[in-house]
Amino acid sequence: MRAPHTLLSFSPSRVPSLLRQGKMTIAVVGLGRIGLPTAAILSKAGALVLGADINEEVVSSVNRGRCKFVDEPGLPQMVRDQVKAGRLQATTDVRRAVSRSDISIISVPTPVDDRKTPDYTAVKAASATIGHSLRKGSVVVVESTVGPGTVENLIQPILEAESGLKAGKDFGLASAPERSDPGNILGNMATVPRVVGATDPRTLRIISALYRTALGVNVIQARNPKTANAIKLTENLFRDVNIAFANEFSLLFEKLGIDAIEVINGCATKYNFLPHYPGAGVGGPCLTSNSYYLISEGVRAGNIPYLIRMAREINDRMPDHVVELVSEALNEVGKTVRGSRIALLGVAYKPNIKDVQLTPAEEIFKRITEMGGEISIHDPMYEGEMVFGTKVKSIDGAVVGADCVIIATGHKEFKSLNLQILAKQMRSRVLVDGRNLVDPGDAIRAGFAYRGVGRGR
Ligand SMILES: NC(=O)c1ccc[n+]([C@@H]2O[C@H](COP(=O)([O-])OP(=O)(O)OC[C@H]3O[C@@H](n4cnc5c(N)ncnc54)[C@H](O)[C@@H]3O)[C@@H](O)[C@H]2O)c1
Repeated sequence: MRAPHTLLSFSPSRVPSLLRQGKMTIAVVGLGRIGLPTAAILSKAGALVLGADINEEVVSSVNRGRCKFVDEPGLPQMVRDQVKAGRLQATTDVRRAVSRSDISIISVPTPVDDRKTPDYTAVKAASATIGHSLRKGSVVVVESTVGPGTVENLIQPILEAESGLKAGKDFGLASAPERSDPGNILGNMATVPRVVGATDPRTLRIISALYRTALGVNVIQARNPKTANAIKLTENLFRDVNIAFANEFSLLFEKLGIDAIEVINGCATKYNFLPHYPGAGVGGPCLTSNSYYLISEGVRAGNIPYLIRMAREINDRMPDHVVELVSEALNEVGKTVRGSRIALLGVAYKPNIKDVQLTPAEEIFKRITEMGGEISIHDPMYEGEMVFGTKVKSIDGAVVGADCVIIATGHKEFKSLNLQILAKQMRSRVLVDGRNLVDPGDAIRAGFAYRGVGRGR
């Protein structure tokens, strides 16, 4: 009897036709902000996609063609279409999904714990489940963000122990870290080159062909999974460290009476300056945690990346600085935080998305509440919903009668605030701009005691 064809037995050049002809089955393990669009795109490219998630609500919602990521342009429609076409099916039975698939993609969360060390619980659990049902000749791809060496030293041993198979020989193992930005995931997936590293050359060619065909992007072939993960982490750390640098000199320039934004814009006129701006803090599941994956590997290797660690500390301190500005500006109009009504505009961790994971706005909210301020929140993405244990109001509901307005998220709606109307609606006129959306001159002309991060008085 002839052995059945497996993915690894095919030439990589066959991958595009296998995919387009619907002859490839792919399990996507974890149907979150990254896994769901990945599943939908692969299904649209022709694969039968079995989306596997341990959360029953997620599975039943996907099977009804629903998508909770309403802030991702095009995604709800794509999920609806693919489910309706029968090419995207969700299940809580991860083992069965894997046992039927040529490729299993890991897209589960990788947060950090309270001690700021990487929490790979979900990755370990997913690897064990996949290993249990792994087919000989199939491929496992890790899309979750992990520290360099985690695929080789943690995931591979689990897969091998559970399956009794050998990576690079019996099954392929690759890393293809996801590089998209929330709010434009589909757009990014279709344009940003995919970095891929694998434990063996054949898997590298097969997975490269898959991403090239399904996403239509260039593929950057890293020499191994740990280099692919290092690329992913370094690009995020580059951003975190640069933002910290902007925050650090902005705090100093505030004290020196220098407008940091004017400085940055001046610097940006030189060919080799890359502008980054100060703000109320860095949030979200990626930038706040990715540094710690590398710091953790550094500690293990006896080479601690101090600059990266310091950058995290600086960025984590920014919500406190915003509260200091609030206090200072309220004092200017003869008030204190205690007893003042404060409107917090924006709870999401970045502009124009509906996501409050590790948002700096929560720290501001907590500090103001601890100090005895009476705080109302408004965010266009969350109006009428409960966030931080309080109901999100309309903009008028939050600002009418307030003593102070804080802008904590750079949502597009806040760029066009009418300061004259705002001033009339408030009880006292204090404006603290944590995202530098408002022109300081306009705020002062409208009668506000104004503070902006990096702008001083
Ligand atoms: N969100 C982003 O902006 C972004 C960007 C790039 C990379 N990433 C990385 O992608 C990975 C996934 O992130 P996300 O934002 O999609 O997470 P998410 O929290 O939105 O979704 C993760 C999903 O995985 C499911 N899950 C957890 N454990 C599981 C298990 N053992 N088996 C099956 N399903 C399981 C959860 O129920 C959830 O539905 C993380 O490593 C993250 O760092 C995220």
